[in-house]
Amino acid sequence: MKFFLVISLLISSCLCNSINIGDVYVTWKNMGEETYFKVTAYLKEFNNHDCWISIGINRSPLMNGANSVVCRMNNNETWARHYLNNGRSPSLLDENEPSLGLSDTCVSVIKDNITCQFIRKNQVDDKMKSYFKINETNEYYLIYAAGEGDFGMHSRQGQTRMPVKFHLNPLISPPDTTKSYDNNESHESNFKKIMGAHREKKDCAEIFKFLNSHYVKYDRQQTSFYKQTDILSRKLDVDCT
Ligand SMILES: *[C@@H]1O[C@H](CO)[C@@H](O)[C@H](O)[C@H]1NC(C)=O
Ligand SMILES: *[C@@H]1O[C@H](CO)[C@@H](O)[C@H](O)[C@H]1NC(C)=O
Ligand SMILES: *[C@@H]1O[C@H](CO)[C@@H](O)[C@H](O)[C@H]1NC(C)=O
Ligand SMILES: *[C@@H]1O[C@H](CO)[C@@H](O)[C@H](O)[C@H]1NC(C)=O
Repeated sequence: MKFFLVISLLISSCLCNSINIGDVYVTWKNMGEETYFKVTAYLKEFNNHDCWISIGINRSPLMNGANSVVCRMNNNETWARHYLNNGRSPSLLDENEPSLGLSDTCVSVIKDNITCQFIRKNQVDDKMKSYFKINETNEYYLIYAAGEGDFGMHSRQGQTRMPVKFHLNPLISPPDTTKSYDNNESHESNFKKIMGAHREKKDCAEIFKFLNSHYVKYDRQQTSFYKQTDILSRKLDVDCT
């Protein structure tokens, strides 16, 4: 649980794009090949052991036609699947691969909030017209829904008033496998710059130091960053609150 607090503190203070849709908070970061999303909703009326949240992108401010990622929390089981909202009956974008284009998914409930984080490929097979491509110019409305029990019976739904953009915002300066990061842009300063973290506490300084010395091993794969942060923050047992 501490990890989620740490991560959400870091992410909520970052320079990435974010928006509130009612009391649902969405943040995203286009990393070029894929986009990181995080969506948090206040559960108030829901049973927080049995609920779901979805966030979709669409060319119109409607649920119908959206590419929606649905995240489900059912007791100790969680999953995330990628749907196409087709009229009243959403269907999986790919029957054979329910989480098509998704990786690093993480569904959590902290106090009264459900949070879903995932990384979505900006593009899959060109032949798949129903998979909306994210790039710097394409704009989409963000559409969320949430509910109790099985996905489908949503009691809450909303969308952005305007379409949003997905500015290219790489997590780390683009990985260059021909060079090591032995220039003056250390991982720590990169990390702080990108995440907008200016924390003074000793414990937080420790995690930056640790990441700085260890992240070098993983920086060839930008998306593993969050996973590694998880492992490292657990290892360090840091608390930045
Ligand atoms: C719950 O989420 C809302 C945003 O939807 C946020 O303002 C609030 O701080 C969160 N509460 C906790 C305990 O994380
Ligand atoms: C959830 O996991 C905890 C710890 O692993 C276990 O004690 C509990 O029985 C599980 N609950 C359900 C509903 O599976
Ligand atoms: C983004 O994708 C659209 C097609 O979906 C294309 O027309 C446009 O040129 C692309 N923009 C960039 C910056 O590649
Ligand atoms: C890093 O900074 C030091 C001193 O500020 C300088 O001597 C060195 O050339 C710099 N290294 C690079 C790769 O820019």
